[in-house]
Amino acid sequence: MTRRLIYAANWKMNHGPAEALAFAERFLQLTSPVEDRDLWFCPPAVAIRVVAEALRLRPDVRVGAQNVHWEPKGAFTGELSISMVMEAGARVVLVGHSERRHLFGETDEQVARKTVTALATGITPLVCVGETSAERESGRTESVIQRQVEAVLARVGPSDWSRVVLAYEPVWAIGTGKNATPDDAAQVHELIRFQLAQRGVAIRVPILYGGSVSLANVLSLLARPELDGVLVGGASLDPDRWAELVGLGG
Ligand code: 13P
Repeated sequence: MTRRLIYAANWKMNHGPAEALAFAERFLQLTSPVEDRDLWFCPPAVAIRVVAEALRLRPDVRVGAQNVHWEPKGAFTGELSISMVMEAGARVVLVGHSERRHLFGETDEQVARKTVTALATGITPLVCVGETSAERESGRTESVIQRQVEAVLARVGPSDWSRVVLAYEPVWAIGTGKNATPDDAAQVHELIRFQLAQRGVAIRVPILYGGSVSLANVLSLLARPELDGVLVGGASLDPDRWAELVGLGG
């Protein structure tokens, strides 16, 4: 069976509605759908609608949110519910991105709650895990990844994993230009698969790699069968570069 590759763009706090629309229009001129390849776009929340509308005729595209709250509504100033981002056009949501975990104090428990609510509401959670450089250097990569995955395993039953996508994003590789080697990434992906299998998850859950993915390294990363796609920050911000990158691999 061939892999269905996912190329996910995380624009972080870049591209408001006007820039996002210009990006989408340029991207449409440059690309057409490729079989067995899905393209996900996670713009800032205020640009979800404009991107979803601009790309609505592309069957290979899904638009996503970068973060949501786990509660359906209420007094949570500054937060967005899942049904709100879905109303704007999101069908995917990043959960537990390392910037949420490390800059905004998101806990394993909160990541798990968001994943559960996403599944219950019918949006695909793209759950991110990854170790810091201090954790890697002190030999704790395995235990940190296992702890982060376990928090979700504790709340999401085996059959619901068919609707979960994971991303391994080592924190030291994000925005640094220093990607994990294909071997290092593949090793952690295997570790995660083993952990899922041990806990009765029989389904093959897609696992993306993220962290300084670029035009220069995407082919060697995707050459590893353990990787089901990539989650890309910096190299997804320019439509010409992103169009070129999503044409590589597979
Ligand atoms: P960079 O591709 O800029 O390293 O960012 C990775 C990332 O955090 C994607 O979610």
